[in-house]
Amino acid sequence: MEPVRFELRGAVAVLTLDRPKALNALDRATLEALLAHRGALAGKADVRAVVLTGEGRAFAAGADIAEMRAMNAADADAFSQLGHRVGLALESLAVPTIAAVGGYALGGGCELALACDWIYASPKARFGQPEVGLGLIPGFGGTSRLVRRVGLAWAKELVLSGEPIDAELAQRIGLVNRIFEPEALLEAAVEAGEAITAKGPIAVAQAKRVLQAGQDADVRVAHDLEQLAFGLVSTTEDRDEGIDAFLEKRAPRFRNR
Ligand code: CAA
Repeated sequence: MEPVRFELRGAVAVLTLDRPKALNALDRATLEALLAHRGALAGKADVRAVVLTGEGRAFAAGADIAEMRAMNAADADAFSQLGHRVGLALESLAVPTIAAVGGYALGGGCELALACDWIYASPKARFGQPEVGLGLIPGFGGTSRLVRRVGLAWAKELVLSGEPIDAELAQRIGLVNRIFEPEALLEAAVEAGEAITAKGPIAVAQAKRVLQAGQDADVRVAHDLEQLAFGLVSTTEDRDEGIDAFLEKRAPRFRNR
């Protein structure tokens, strides 16, 4: 059985981690499947947003612990690199990605959610980086992305204590954007993706790219990147259409040009 399910809901691609018996633990096959879906999505102009979720009572309960037991240092290094490739692949998608977390998002699962542009959760969600309890450290971007999302002190508390937090606290520290009841969670994430289809696709892609690159650059370089992209989008037909539609008091018809 495929470890990741793909479904198209209008213009929103829904990727579902589908190993519920193992709480969607991320083994190599699942990570490779995510990379393959990411590759396929890049060529689909009709997909305007991606929602990533998990089947059953977990988003993902971490990297696959049983698989990791047999890894030597070189294997573990390569496994961590594979996890990083998945995170970077999601971040570099031109369209927004939303994690819908309705259960455990632990270790590599939390890191995978962090590689999405933002996270929606249900009250059942639990977030954490429990790796130190296994004599490990986060390996799929937890030490870097978590700091950027919630700041150094919260990242240290989560990573060094290994203790999970609930959705409400995750929202308070900026890890989760919004909380929805379990039965409404996936639909809310899909609707958020659908809403973006009314916006200019080139503008959305450029804004995502500049936000992503800008946070890793010093502020002057970030301003330069923003200026360059601002200039670039101003050469598009969609920019003319967006502004004309506003001035003519009508809805814009963006054509991705
Ligand atoms: N890897 C492999 N299998 C896992 C798993 C994981 N990360 N998490 C859960 N499972 C499996 C369990 O082994 C169990 O399988 P069996 O039924 O065959 O025994 C099944 O999923 C259900 O799990 P539990 O019986 O443990 O369910 P529970 O409700 O009692 O507990 C839980 C839920 C608290 C999430 C618990 O499963 C747990 O602590 N899981 C591990 C969490 C963890 O430590 N994650 C970090 C992994 S390391 C990592 O991710 C490194 C990195 O950054 C790359």
